[in-house]
Amino acid sequence: MPDRRGVGTAVANVRGMAGLTPTEFVERYGRYFNVERVEAIAGLGFMFVEGPAEGVWFEDSEGHKFLDMWCMGGTFSLGHRNPVVLAAAQDALATEDFGSLFFFSEDKGRLAEKLAQCTPGRLETTHPTVTGAEAIDLSIKLARGSTGRTEILYADHSYHGCTGFALSMMARGSMRDYAEPLVPDFTEVCFGDAADLASKISERTAAVVLEAVRTDCDGAIPPEGYLTEVRRLCDETGAKLISDEVVCGMGRLGTFWGCDYWGVEPDMLVTAKGFSGGIYPMSAVVTRPECLDFFGESPYRTISSFAWSNVGARVSLAALEETERLLPRLGPLGDRLHAGVMSITDRFPDLVLSVRRAGMLFAIDFADAGTGLGFLAGMFAAGVLVVASSQRGDVIKLYPPLILEDAEVDLFLDRMESVLSKMAPRG
Ligand SMILES: Cc1ncc(COP(=O)(O)O)c(C=O)c1O
Repeated sequence: MPDRRGVGTAVANVRGMAGLTPTEFVERYGRYFNVERVEAIAGLGFMFVEGPAEGVWFEDSEGHKFLDMWCMGGTFSLGHRNPVVLAAAQDALATEDFGSLFFFSEDKGRLAEKLAQCTPGRLETTHPTVTGAEAIDLSIKLARGSTGRTEILYADHSYHGCTGFALSMMARGSMRDYAEPLVPDFTEVCFGDAADLASKISERTAAVVLEAVRTDCDGAIPPEGYLTEVRRLCDETGAKLISDEVVCGMGRLGTFWGCDYWGVEPDMLVTAKGFSGGIYPMSAVVTRPECLDFFGESPYRTISSFAWSNVGARVSLAALEETERLLPRLGPLGDRLHAGVMSITDRFPDLVLSVRRAGMLFAIDFADAGTGLGFLAGMFAAGVLVVASSQRGDVIKLYPPLILEDAEVDLFLDRMESVLSKMAPRG
């Protein structure tokens, strides 16, 4: 884990702090939150007070505009305050609220029906939750409950959230170690290595939890045929396949869901982030019906007060419909961005080692963590937000909004070229 403090201090002063110096900023905001956290983000060059946001842009409190190429991992894939999603929320708020966690409603019914239609095959039963990690936790409980087994296999260096079961799949390090001991019977497998999975999966295994692409760490794309082989091994042993689609879903890989990218149907699909439309916290586990069968004798085994509100159901339905509408544009848009990124990065081989792309997800490998984080800070100073891996400073990722227009692609590429040019050693 790189020490990010101090990185980007050169730009720490440039962006909207509502007239505050960096020290004043940390003092003013740090005292009410976690001062270490504020200092850490400040050290990366993000001395930032949020202002309004619209479409692919957000502003700081002083009106400086930033192109959002992170979209909070896909939360803002449809853009900030997407007008269709916003209208659905405003319409719902005129007459509705959360509703009850015990009752059904037309809104909840329509959302569940839409999820059954737009997810593959026999994924047709929806269980509502609020956050990604809560949904991951639920999927693991469902796997254990429905199989009567306990072992969970998960991929190394994957991120699935910070709640109990999700945290038990976290790579060792500062985000996890302080909370040990975690939930027992979680075993790591090597991401993308079918032989490693084959050597560990057995009739003890309740579930294998995977992403279609390992998003948080490095954007690693597994070899062709890997997910198909995982599916086969799960079928052979009776283990459930859980697809974490918190980032890979909702159009991110150019397909509706990450599992569609590989043509594989999981037993459970977990969606969050973009499922909220960036407006209202929503997540869900969509399962094959048999995963919920064991609930029969006690249907309220697990409940959550805010899960699946009526307002949220309208928002998520609008987000699903918008995503579906945008799918045809994602191939050409991703191709255009990819071609531009490649033609620029090819000119800076000392800085950029390689680029990976799956649909609308890009991971750029820099020479080292200092260079990667320097690029992040340089782009931010130039008015573009990209993101570093939480585990590796040398990997910078792009999660472009799915509504990006050609002119904004060109603007991004211009700024990328100019930041890399400034960073390149003079020959
Ligand atoms: C792949 C993946 N799964 C699960 C989660 C957890 O989602 P949340 O932050 O909503 O709990 C995240 C969050 O970044 C994620 O990237």
